[in-house]
Amino acid sequence: MAEFSIERTETPTSAEQRQALMVDPKFGRVFTDHMAVIRYTDEKGWHDARIVPRQPLQIDPASTVLHYGQEIFEGLKAYRGKGGAVTLFRPEANAARFAASARRLSMAELPEDLFLGSIKALLKVDHDWVPTNPEQSLYLRPFMISNEVFLGVKRANEYLFVVLASPVGGYFSGNGSIPVWVSEQYTRAAPGGTGEAKCGGNYASSLLPQQEATDHGCSQVLFLDARERRFIDEMGGMNVMFVRKDGSVVTPPLGGTILRGITRDSIIRLGREMGLKMVEEPLAIDDVFRDAESGEITEAFACGTAALISPIGEFRREAGTVAFGDGKTAGPVTMKLRNALCALQRGEEADSFGWVH
Ligand code: COI
Repeated sequence: MAEFSIERTETPTSAEQRQALMVDPKFGRVFTDHMAVIRYTDEKGWHDARIVPRQPLQIDPASTVLHYGQEIFEGLKAYRGKGGAVTLFRPEANAARFAASARRLSMAELPEDLFLGSIKALLKVDHDWVPTNPEQSLYLRPFMISNEVFLGVKRANEYLFVVLASPVGGYFSGNGSIPVWVSEQYTRAAPGGTGEAKCGGNYASSLLPQQEATDHGCSQVLFLDARERRFIDEMGGMNVMFVRKDGSVVTPPLGGTILRGITRDSIIRLGREMGLKMVEEPLAIDDVFRDAESGEITEAFACGTAALISPIGEFRREAGTVAFGDGKTAGPVTMKLRNALCALQRGEEADSFGWVH
């Protein structure tokens, strides 16, 4: 494991202040005292691995990331189990996806041991920030920017990798099911594009349709495929799944335009172990509206690291709205999967997959 030099803050947050901040932290608004930083240059490779007080980054205004958006990120969580132990869930899967995103954005690849080492080193220093409240966790945000001072358009020769940590509760405000807006005008990713990479640009381009969703009273936007605007891809910040009347769970297949969700993959494998029929197949939006209306589809939910498993109450589009159940209450299959996944992530269930660190 790589060695990280450790510089502790001279003004640590007191235990009382921390408790107050963690009563009801809004997603991504509260941060721990430290961050992990590693630098890369083509000459030196990865070097200068440090844990330092959380602070603003100093970058040159001609830094390539500010102009051409070479940026990728990850999201994973540290959980506090019943006995107080801190667990991570499939962090090596995040490391692998981070490396895949780096390849797609033509950035330097961070080796797995540095990715995992940075998270573990940060958790060693900031472990008091892992919430004890079972509804909360410590969200970890590794990200990388290109940092060469140059205005030409080319692969940069310098990068900066940083990990932030942020205590969080749920991603959505309120506990109920979310309404989702179907974007028929905008798409998120085309075949051959960057849809599978976790890069900031994918999220930047989702913000206008996300605002459209907000204007229609919805919490998330759902994107359709770029070729035909017919099949469901994914939402602004998470994957989507449906439950049919026969109890099977259906989700769009991976194909390069949607994110390889680690929560998505975990639910598919966990569901199979629980005896559920888990299906990856294209879902046409018109069929989903028709089947939800007829009762053939009974539940829908969003899934992602931040969202965990969040029930979807209804879909809205220009032509009308369709609700699942009463549009407010999470369905039984959604809750069964959610409870099973949470117990596993918190180290409260036997982990036959070897996912929990
Ligand atoms: C995550 O679930 O970790 C994500 O990266 C989604 C983000 C939009 C909050």
